[in-house]
Amino acid sequence: MPDSRVPRPRRFLVCEPRHFAVQYAINPWMHPDTQVDVDLAHGQWKALISAYRAHGHTVDIVEPVADLPDMVFAANSALVLAGRVFGSLFHAPQRRPESSAYETWFKAAGFDVYRPESVCEGEGDLVPVGRYLLAGTGFRTTPEAHREVQEFFGVPVISLQLVDARFYHLDTALFVLEEGPGANIAYYPEAFSPGSREVLARLFPDAVVATREDAMTFGLNSVSDGRHVFISPRAEALTSRLARHGYVPVPVDLSEFHKAGGGIKCCTQEIRS
Ligand code: ARG
Repeated sequence: MPDSRVPRPRRFLVCEPRHFAVQYAINPWMHPDTQVDVDLAHGQWKALISAYRAHGHTVDIVEPVADLPDMVFAANSALVLAGRVFGSLFHAPQRRPESSAYETWFKAAGFDVYRPESVCEGEGDLVPVGRYLLAGTGFRTTPEAHREVQEFFGVPVISLQLVDARFYHLDTALFVLEEGPGANIAYYPEAFSPGSREVLARLFPDAVVATREDAMTFGLNSVSDGRHVFISPRAEALTSRLARHGYVPVPVDLSEFHKAGGGIKCCTQEIRS
């Protein structure tokens, strides 16, 4: 099995962390008095971009906007499926202006953008896998948005209840290892309500189950291309488990971004054409 995993080249959209900072607290990881090492953050972010490019992925970069310190978390800006963009409406007023900043990029790149009516934080809570769209709720994206996104794409939405504020976005508790035939995920069960846990166990009996330690080190905020898994080196148990399952872990440390409650996946929007 170890050599049978085939990567698929992806197109990613990212945002340079020029204005990245922790200035407000909208999740339990954030403390407004936290100092971010701007140079270190920049270096870590650049290492992520280099790792993507070195593995054959295309990376587009959106211009950051001053006074939008969380704009670096590109995943929250939209969900893009088959070239159709379902935009965002942020829960926190501080982040609301990010939606138009990203919309400007998408329009210039030739995409129309649908603006949701209900709070929806893009790929932070919306995760396509196999024939389904997994959708998190509890802290940010609302059940109304789940209905809206299902209506927009016509893809069956599986609503999942998040129950631990540390894992406020679905992409902090779950990621897709393989999205095509043989679709599979890795996740941290305790981040979900009992019913949602059962749903995940039924849909993905072969899922890679992560520990709390893996989740607390942002190990589930990873990106897989079907073979390589771009993952926090701090998630040691998960990293070795993935290797045993035939994946090739590519460690990228985004520790400065953890201070804002984000990691690799948060910094990465996928553009699926
Ligand atoms: N500080 C940001 C927030 O709380 C972090 C967003 C992380 N993004 C993600 N896709 N989980 O909104």
